[in-house]
Amino acid sequence: MAAPTIRTPEEAKGDYRDMLLRLMTRQFYAETATAEVFGRSISCAPTLRERLLAAAFAEEEADHSQRLCNLFLGLGVDPEAVFRSRPPAAQFWSLDLDNWVHVAVFNFTVDRAGSQQIMEYRDSSYQPWAEQMVAVLEDEEGHYGNGVENLRAFAKDKAVFGEFQRLYFQMLPVTVKRAFGRPTGVDNDYCVTVGLKRHTTEQVVNRYLEEMRGYMREVGLKFPPLKVFAEVGAELMPSTREILLSNQ
Ligand SMILES: [Fe+2]
Ligand SMILES: [Fe+2]
Repeated sequence: MAAPTIRTPEEAKGDYRDMLLRLMTRQFYAETATAEVFGRSISCAPTLRERLLAAAFAEEEADHSQRLCNLFLGLGVDPEAVFRSRPPAAQFWSLDLDNWVHVAVFNFTVDRAGSQQIMEYRDSSYQPWAEQMVAVLEDEEGHYGNGVENLRAFAKDKAVFGEFQRLYFQMLPVTVKRAFGRPTGVDNDYCVTVGLKRHTTEQVVNRYLEEMRGYMREVGLKFPPLKVFAEVGAELMPSTREILLSNQ
């Protein structure tokens, strides 16, 4: 049976409301922390063009954050209180915010992981949230387009590309663990049952990695060895391992 659509905040009750708030909080942490990453990169990007783009992206992430503030208010939750529970941006992402290569790897890796989750929310059973995510995803396409463009630019310089690859080895396993969480468990099943997500975590992670692999092969970027995933405690399903092993 298809999960019912929840059309208003008042209809979101009990366990459903709790899970909705958990997912929205995770997205809100990501949107607000990403606004800060791009905000800082206005002063560390190497060219004027990149600085102006960073400013535009920061504004877009601020807009995404504001949309979530409005959704929280609709549910009777104070967004400032949610914000106060978020760790500092650099700590949240384990990132050096003043290092341009860090920001570029972040844009290709972390920001896109968030978009893959938002694709689920756009189709979610909580209609007020789903509606707001349409415009958000349009912006995110632009962010990823720039992430891919940066990757291609870095690939032209062997030394910088080596640094990109090294940081990517660090950042991807942590991203898989933090952005997507555990691939199995009752919470995942619940989200799919009530329609807060339309795909399992395994499917979303695999979709993310397969999309990336296309761009990676083009420039010779490799997935990190499986042992790095094990070291950070990122759990992998057999189908996910297979994708990672296909481009080592
Ligand atoms: Fe965003
Ligand atoms: Fe973004």
